[in-house]
Amino acid sequence: MNDNLHQLRCFGCGARIAGKDARPDFRCALCGDLFEVEYPGWNQRRGSDRPNAGALKWLWRERRSSAETLDRSGVWRFRELLPILDNFGNAVTLFEGNTPLYHLPRASKALGIDQVYAKHQGMNPSGSFKDTGMTAALSVAKERGFKWVACASTGNTSAAMAAYAARAGLRCLVLIPDGKIAWGKLAQAMDYGAVTCQLKTDFDGCLTLLTEIVQQAPIYLLNSVNPYRLEGQKTPAFEIAEAFDWNIPDHLIVPGGNLGNSSALGKGFRELHELGLIARMPRISVIQAAGANPLVRSFIASNGTVLEPVEARTRATAIRIGNPASWRKAARVILDTGGWCLDVTEAEIAMAKAEIGAEGLGCEPASAVTLAGLKKLRAQGKIGAAETVVLLLTGHTLKDADYTIDFHRGTLLKDDEKTGLEAEIASLRRNAQVVDATPAAVLATLGESLA
Ligand code: F0G
Repeated sequence: MNDNLHQLRCFGCGARIAGKDARPDFRCALCGDLFEVEYPGWNQRRGSDRPNAGALKWLWRERRSSAETLDRSGVWRFRELLPILDNFGNAVTLFEGNTPLYHLPRASKALGIDQVYAKHQGMNPSGSFKDTGMTAALSVAKERGFKWVACASTGNTSAAMAAYAARAGLRCLVLIPDGKIAWGKLAQAMDYGAVTCQLKTDFDGCLTLLTEIVQQAPIYLLNSVNPYRLEGQKTPAFEIAEAFDWNIPDHLIVPGGNLGNSSALGKGFRELHELGLIARMPRISVIQAAGANPLVRSFIASNGTVLEPVEARTRATAIRIGNPASWRKAARVILDTGGWCLDVTEAEIAMAKAEIGAEGLGCEPASAVTLAGLKKLRAQGKIGAAETVVLLLTGHTLKDADYTIDFHRGTLLKDDEKTGLEAEIASLRRNAQVVDATPAAVLATLGESLA
């Protein structure tokens, strides 16, 4: 299974092309839809034609104790399932992946579900899940001889791309919506040496513009329309399966923005299933912010078959996206796995984020939609007490410290957003206090809980 025999298959019309023949915007020349990496024959393997599941599982686990560069990456240790490079020596890695899976005891108790876990992709080198996709697609850019790479971003893609481009010695161009990304992410792009343009438009406008730019100059596009990004981003599915000893959890809950990540995770589980490495798929549910919910609307109006773009508004800036590129792929994943697509309010996001913080983990606002969505699914009776749930936390809490501080100071949410939730929100807030510099004054802040 090591040969690079991949091809690209159009998700819309099914046309197949060689990887090297993709257009710079990664859109199908026939129908305009996106491509998916396909490994011919994988889904037809039966019986002894299938890979030796036990041997592969052993090999992947064994590599965790290897000192070899590729083995130390949580993406490339699964390289048998992403043979996208002619030469694995071209892989650019920051030792991404191998992220922790945490049990969430407080959420489990509050929801009456024994097994709620968080797969924390914010524990990647640049602090978000984008690193797993970036190691894959940027390595392809390097192997194909590009000198420049570029992305439009709500912040995390640009941080990841800038880091990997710097490691590879490539130049990179970042287009971000002016004033609508978290400072931590912008700081990373600067730190890693990107050329950063803040444009007076939103994320969708940045991506449209970049699509034109890459057709005019030899610049490799690294947004998740690039199908190689999704090959890296499918590997957390392998890690989750491995962490449960290949007994798949019942539910995986993922935030939805441009919808590449949910598509990638669905592909990862599907391939494990096709290759006989797991017995079933988890239900994959996608949660959006209520102010940036085009996929939710699409499911309500047409069961995920037609998507009307929306003008996106949410403080979870990472998922402030109104016209998601990979919506068809994500809709297919939800439908095929029997998952759900729903949205959550700004107050629900803020409270869920504080609760994940109180578990000692923390995450950025966009990641917290997963817990907010789980609460809704549980309340609707869609998830049972004995089921196992994994929340995919996409970004580190330090990415957007302003949001956290505003929440705890009580300046984040407007009064009408808090209606009916005031007491619950107050119980979650932990504002810093200005206190006299005496032991008595400091001890007094601890109140009765000290006794
Ligand atoms: N969570 C975080 C922290 C993100 O940064 C993003 C997307 C998502 C969730 C949504 O993932 O787009 O695959 O559905 N951030 C992109 C960026 C758009 O530019 O960093 P998706």
